[in-house]
Amino acid sequence: MGSYLVTGGAGFIGSNFVRHLVEHTDHRVVVLDKLTYAARRESLDGLPADRVTLVEGDICDAGLVDRLVAGADVVAHFAAESHNDNSLNDPSPFVQTNLVGTFVLLEAVRKHGVRYHHISTDEVYGDLELDDPDRFHEWTPYNPSSPYSATKAGSDLLVRAWVRSFGVQATLSNCSNNYGPYQHVEKFIPRQITNLIDGVHPKLYGAGQNVRDWIHVDDHNSAVLRIIDAGRIGETYLIGADGEMNNKAVVEMILRLMGHPADAYEHVTDRPGHDLRYAIDSTRLRTELGWTPAYTSFEDGLAATIDWYRDNEAWWRPMKEATEAKYAKSGQ
Ligand code: NAD
Ligand code: TYD
Repeated sequence: MGSYLVTGGAGFIGSNFVRHLVEHTDHRVVVLDKLTYAARRESLDGLPADRVTLVEGDICDAGLVDRLVAGADVVAHFAAESHNDNSLNDPSPFVQTNLVGTFVLLEAVRKHGVRYHHISTDEVYGDLELDDPDRFHEWTPYNPSSPYSATKAGSDLLVRAWVRSFGVQATLSNCSNNYGPYQHVEKFIPRQITNLIDGVHPKLYGAGQNVRDWIHVDDHNSAVLRIIDAGRIGETYLIGADGEMNNKAVVEMILRLMGHPADAYEHVTDRPGHDLRYAIDSTRLRTELGWTPAYTSFEDGLAATIDWYRDNEAWWRPMKEATEAKYAKSGQ
């Protein structure tokens, strides 16, 4: 039994990771989360109090981070400002949390010799053409497009430098787009599901031809745990489940699964600098660490996610109005 410090554990992927740890290991978990607009304390409801403790605080608070890291065996760093559209409106919290926050954590794990895993995104690689036969690999050059992806790229490079210069015991993973329960309604899939529950048409940026490589959040988290347990120190692993689909096809599937005509969506203003396509080659993770995704059907995973949002309106309702008011300002 060990002690995990999970940053951002009240957010989408982090809270699912805490649940995963409770179900699949006997580790104790301390969650460090600032409880920003993106967090929901309720995402940790029902977890055993003798296994999971929530500390409300900022990863940029060096004193607090030092104390928490000193008592941990592993740090799993999920905390971030995570939404591209927000980063276009105000990049400042992205620089602070994603870059400065990661720096603060790295200094603490360096001082205390604690194992560190860094959760990142495939968006650090920029985008691919729709007809490019290639996908992203661990050796693809960094070429981020937005303030979000640039700050995530910078944080990855800090980790690599701390491994090489200071011998920090770290691994990194870059994952594709996640879907599943407890995802904030600002993100593409939950936004469309909750719009339909509210009788509002799904909103497609531009022509809807942009491609994302979808993975269920539980598959992302099983990969993270596998990398923490068996990954090579200093190594980067790409996490993906061969789930490429364009946004229009995803919206059509949501409409069909929710009993609406497949064309009952509307086109809205496109995102400036909108990345065209992401696609992950996860061969290293699969061959070296023997990982495979459990969700083999995107449609089944999506149907289960729709059911979750239908059954958990009390969880998402408090965020919906403010989210849509923000989008309305940008014509989205
Ligand atoms: P999220 O926005 O749902 O959650 C982020 C959490 O971090 C929130 O609980 C928030 O309160 C917390 N946080 C923000 N700033 C903080 C600070 N300064 N101190 C402490 N806590 C802070 O994000 P998510 O979608 O769960 O993403 C988690 C991680 O996974 C991020 O690092 C993101 O870059 C990465 N990632 C996300 C996706 C995706 O599809 N969502 C894909 C690949 C990688
Ligand atoms: P998003 O969930 O914001 O993730 P990311 O920007 O990290 O890929 O968006 C996923 C895709 O969906 C992206 O191509 C933008 C598009 N999108 C829409 O078409 N409509 C929407 O309402 C939103 C939020 C996103």
